Amino acid sequence: MKSFRIRKIHTVRELSFHSTINSIQKWLDKKRKKKKKIILIPTMGNLHQGHLDLINSYKKRNTETIVSIFVNPMQFNLHEDFDAYPRTLESDLQTLQTSSATSVFAPNVREMYPFGVRAQIDIPKISSILCGASRPGHFQGVATVVAKLFNIIKPDVAIFGKKDYQQLQIIRIMANDLLMPIKIVGVETTREISGLALSSRNDYLLPNEKLIAPSLYGSLLAIRTGLLNKKNIQKTLEKEREKLRDLGFKIDYLEIRNASDLTATPFNSKRIIMVAAVLGKARLIDNIIVET
Ligand code: PAF
Repeated sequence: MKSFRIRKIHTVRELSFHSTINSIQKWLDKKRKKKKKIILIPTMGNLHQGHLDLINSYKKRNTETIVSIFVNPMQFNLHEDFDAYPRTLESDLQTLQTSSATSVFAPNVREMYPFGVRAQIDIPKISSILCGASRPGHFQGVATVVAKLFNIIKPDVAIFGKKDYQQLQIIRIMANDLLMPIKIVGVETTREISGLALSSRNDYLLPNEKLIAPSLYGSLLAIRTGLLNKKNIQKTLEKEREKLRDLGFKIDYLEIRNASDLTATPFNSKRIIMVAAVLGKARLIDNIIVET
């Protein structure tokens, strides 16, 4: 086990670092003996303020907050570049020093998939729509690696961002239906002042694209206003799609769904407006929830 000393204003504490299952489990055993509650925030690294907000969202006494950093090959499909995904462990560890994380679990691929992929978790229906339709196999990869992380860490609470709302709902269904005794918490999306949702993928935007990208959130707000004012919502959706296309977005989807299971009909009172669109080299997603 490596440990990184973290200097806080009045105290010095240790951020324990583990790259093997054996090492993190030994550390967890000690913490559980001290009756600590275990909080897990799964990430693929390349950490930004949005991750820090997830990590810092659950600051309670007597907790240990573990951040996992693992770029999961199983959730990349053939057209996506697993090798090009940014690996920034050193700077991630620096970033974590400003957070409430107490431990980092950063295994390599052999540690997580010693036998390759012989078993997988599939949450059908919800995994095949929206982002799942254009990224086949992606959510099976996400559910499988999150289930493995849950089995390794056995957290009391696991925290995910609402920006990846479809992922969050899939994990909620998995934990609920497979009787995993873990509280799944969704945390609000952190945005730039422009409204752009923070994402590692924003790094792929060129300076002029960075100026256009906040229009995605602008469209979500316009559709929300349309919904609340009971305007012809199909017309509003089409108008916003058109606007985004004119700005150079390639729209994957811009839709209104039920917030619980992401079905299209019949609508209930808690709905979500969801968008996925490509701008330059970045595939951006965002959403807002509307209660009517
Ligand atoms: O949201 C992510 O970063 C990933 O999909 C997750 C949940 C860490 C699984 O690899």
